[in-house]
Amino acid sequence: IGSDGAKQFTLTMQSGETEFLPGKKTDTWGINGSYLGPTVRVSKGDQVAFNVVNHLSEVSTLHWHGMLLPAVMDGGPHQMIEAGETWKPNWTINQPSATTWYHPHLHGSTVRHVYRGLAGMFIIDDEDSKKLPSDYGVNDIPLIVQDKLFTRDGQLSEDNQTTFGTLGDEILVNGTYDPFLKVTASQIRFRLLNGSNARAYHFGFTDDRSFQLVANDAGILQEPVTLDRVMLSPGERAEIVVEFKPGEETILHSFNGGAGIENGEFDLLKIVAASKLTASTAIDGQLSTVPPIDAPKDAMVRQFKLSMESDINGKKMDMYRIDEVVPAGTREIWEINNFGWSHNFHIHNAAFRILDINGKEPSEYERGRKDTVFIPNGGRVRIAVEFGDYSDPNHPLMYHCHLLRHEDDGMMGQFLLV
Ligand code: C2O
Ligand code: CU
Ligand code: CU
Repeated sequence: IGSDGAKQFTLTMQSGETEFLPGKKTDTWGINGSYLGPTVRVSKGDQVAFNVVNHLSEVSTLHWHGMLLPAVMDGGPHQMIEAGETWKPNWTINQPSATTWYHPHLHGSTVRHVYRGLAGMFIIDDEDSKKLPSDYGVNDIPLIVQDKLFTRDGQLSEDNQTTFGTLGDEILVNGTYDPFLKVTASQIRFRLLNGSNARAYHFGFTDDRSFQLVANDAGILQEPVTLDRVMLSPGERAEIVVEFKPGEETILHSFNGGAGIENGEFDLLKIVAASKLTASTAIDGQLSTVPPIDAPKDAMVRQFKLSMESDINGKKMDMYRIDEVVPAGTREIWEINNFGWSHNFHIHNAAFRILDINGKEPSEYERGRKDTVFIPNGGRVRIAVEFGDYSDPNHPLMYHCHLLRHEDDGMMGQFLLV
């Protein structure tokens, strides 16, 4: 706690070495360590102040994905941190509890910076979130899932370029290869983050057990949904609560789910329940008290066309062009049409609810508050978007495909909240 009452954090971007594969040292980047960064955990209403130190030998940025905050604190491509410099953003946490995350957003280099290891989780708590298992590392477990491609000598490879970017054939969870978790409580809340460049995962368990989905990207659901699969594309998060009996074993797995980025079967995490488990209180009916996002009848409707050439409405990202101007604090309907390949769509400084996909209800796992949505090939997705209420006529915010190669290729636009 700093003298002005703000919670102070220092995040230092640095290079290092990590042993992922037994006996092999991999050159990596990390934050306050050699790979990934610490989980930041704060409560709604907290003031936060960061020192983001760049100890790399090149410029980067650090973006707070999922955060509502003044545009100049967003950490997008305009808030560059030169090598050796420190950036000091600060803001007040003013949004419902959520599992958000942070990662670099340097225009044209996001793939490389995230792939080498710059990312971390950023958890926001409020009263609703504390009704769920919340004991970090005990019954509240972050899982950052990333696919990697290794060279024979254990270096991270960016080869195997598909139209989506690098698709890896090995999985790291929280930066650990072949991970294992022993649980000691009968109810575990997993915070799933797809921190991959391009791959989507259909999460489930090898014994097909069901679980409760309790939160999506931007917040807790009104009510839990019982499911046995959740699909997350890059940048998306979900919180699930899973029940365990003493001594049980299962594997968190990604199931095959189609073509392109949705394809691939992986064991993600072996889980063993201890022979004695701490009981937790059952999750009851209502979880979140935050009303669902709805757009007014006369809401502004904006159209976005995604193409095979990785552009949006026929345009590539231009840091000096403003594509849209949105009144701060308003609700609008955005309609996204995908004319080629798989993409997804993320909006800074906003939360949204999916209204429909190809005219139909979204999947059960796509309910609630989100900030990133998968847009299938040929798909038409309509979302009701609630924008943050910080206006700033000088600093743009972004919307973009979160397949990082597409983002780097310019599949991104800029808007002002005014
Ligand atoms: Cu997670 Cu604009 O990014
Ligand atoms: Cu973002
Ligand atoms: Cu894309």
